[in-house]
Formats: sequence, structure tokens, C-alpha cells
Amino acid sequence: MKIIAYGIRDDEKPYLDKWSEENPDVEVASTGELLDESTVDQAKGADGVVTYQQKPYTAAVLDKLGSFGIKFLSLRNVGVDNIDVDAAKRNGIQVTNVPAYSPEAIAEFTVTQLMRLLRRTNTFDRKQANGDLRWAPDIADELNQMTVGVFATGRIGRAAMRIYKGFGAKVIAYDIYHNPELEKEGVYVDTPEELYAQSDVISLHAPATKENEHMINDKTIAQMKDGVFLLNPARGALVDTDALIRGLDSGKIGGAAIDTYEDEVGIFNTDFGSFDKIPDERLKGLMKRENVLVSPHIAFYTKRAVRNMVYFAMDANKSLIKTGKSDKLVKL
Ligand code: COI
Repeated sequence: MKIIAYGIRDDEKPYLDKWSEENPDVEVASTGELLDESTVDQAKGADGVVTYQQKPYTAAVLDKLGSFGIKFLSLRNVGVDNIDVDAAKRNGIQVTNVPAYSPEAIAEFTVTQLMRLLRRTNTFDRKQANGDLRWAPDIADELNQMTVGVFATGRIGRAAMRIYKGFGAKVIAYDIYHNPELEKEGVYVDTPEELYAQSDVISLHAPATKENEHMINDKTIAQMKDGVFLLNPARGALVDTDALIRGLDSGKIGGAAIDTYEDEVGIFNTDFGSFDKIPDERLKGLMKRENVLVSPHIAFYTKRAVRNMVYFAMDANKSLIKTGKSDKLVKL
């Protein structure tokens, strides 16, 4: 049995090598290159493919895998929004993801960024760098006095809720699907509008779908409280960036932490050598604002998460090849 793993980074390699040692019945090939039309031929002869990338898995790539008789594609991440679903189905390709490599990693980072916004650490860091050690006017808000609205109560949303509650915040939530435990606690509001109207902080934890693209837009921002804090560690596509900028300009949005950005592919996780060379003026404009924290999709990036992404994806791929089954199968 042979599995080829694409896009293997230096930080993933030791985990892949260890998995390989522990699974001597599997021949493991790996490459640092991403899976696209120029690299797909490397998969010829493999029984399964393991990947992680944010760039699209195109119809051409999936057709090629199909023509090699490869039916199993295991992603090392949660999001499956970059797969051409029709092409995967047409080729009978089964896809697994890693739904829970560490929901806590993302939740902890999200709350960290919120605390930085509330305590104005960006502003104090910049002031201190200029020798200004005064307090005023950068007085903070306290999370324990606030209502946090969690949009989507999957594993990550629920992990974030536990932390917000630990800080003493009032936590409410919106989701089409109600988690039975949370339902008992009565945290759910019935509509996104209610969530927006009641929350001092909006914490987004929804996957990207066709339906929720730009769900945060001029109209929904207008429904939010004045001075709302917006957190998006989920997917860039959820937020209309131009509307976010207008909201920040008007003061309607008091601060934002974006770990995801709608045009991040090819930009995040790249070294451009200097700030000026980052090829996205809109993003740079956001990065320059003191009440905006931009981070390059790093909420997930912990040792535990990376280890689990490699192990769970390799396990799932092996299981599909061996048995045709996996508990991580994605319903396409
Ligand atoms: C995902 O797992 O879908 C993420 O968003 C994290 C990714 C950048 C590895």
C-alpha cells in the first residue's frame, strides 16, 4: 500500500516520519510541493493521497487522480471549501478531513486576540516603542462585563465558549444546528440578527459555504452594537473586507482580529522580505490600524494540532485504502 503526502512542511516532516516508522506496512512518499496540475503526476502508483493546502483542488487535478485509479484523498485540515465537489464525485473520490485536530488551539488564539484588542496592547506596544509610557487615553474594556456572541457552535465555537465563560463573559450563540448541552443551558438566540444586536463581541466559527459568503457585510454590520469587536479565525470568505473597513472607519466596529482574510491564498505563510513588499494594499491598510489585529492564519498552528493533522489524515487514508471506511469521511 502506498500513500503520497503533498505539501509536507518542515514542521510536519518529523511527525510524518514517525507515523511511517509506526506503520511499516505502508510505503510513504512525500513532497513539499502542493497538489496541483503540475505535481499531480507524482501520485501515479499511489493508493491514496494526503494533502494540506488552501489553493483549490481543481477538476483537472481530481480528474487526473481519478484516471490513476486513486479514490482516497485525505486532507490534513478541517476546511473542505477548496474542493471541486462535482469533480470529486464524478471520479468517485472519497474525501476525509481532520475535524478536530485541536479546536482548543483555535479557540485559545481567538480569545488571546480579543484580550489584546480589549487591553489595547497593540497601542501600548507602539507607544512604548516611542518612549511613551503614559496610560491615557487607552483605557481598556473588561471581558467579564461583555456579551460574546458565538456564531456557529461546532467544536471550535464550543471550545471558545468555554474560555469566554471562564473569563466571566455572558455568552450567547447562533447556529442552525443546536448542540443539546448548550440548548439545555439556553444560550441560543433564534436569528443571526438577535446575535448581532445583543453582542459586544462577535466570534465567528462557521465553515465557509456558498450560503454564508460575506455574511458579515454592510447590512449585518449595521445590525451590530456600536463599537462591536469582530473576531474571524474561521474563513476569510465570511467577511466582506470592504464592509469591515467601512465599519472600522465609521467607528461602528471598535476593533477586529482577523486570522483569515478573503484574499489570503498566496499571501499568508509567505515571506515578502519587508512590509512594503506585501502585495495587497487593502490588507496592509488593515495591518496598519491599531484596533485591527491581522495574523496569517496561525490560530491552528500548535505542536499538538500539527501532529494530529498529520497522524489523523494518514490514519484516515490508510483506513480508507484498507477497509473502504473512515470515521472522518466528508459528506460531499
Ligand atoms: C483548517 O484546518 O481548515 C484551517 O483553517 C487551518 C489551516 C490553515 C491548516
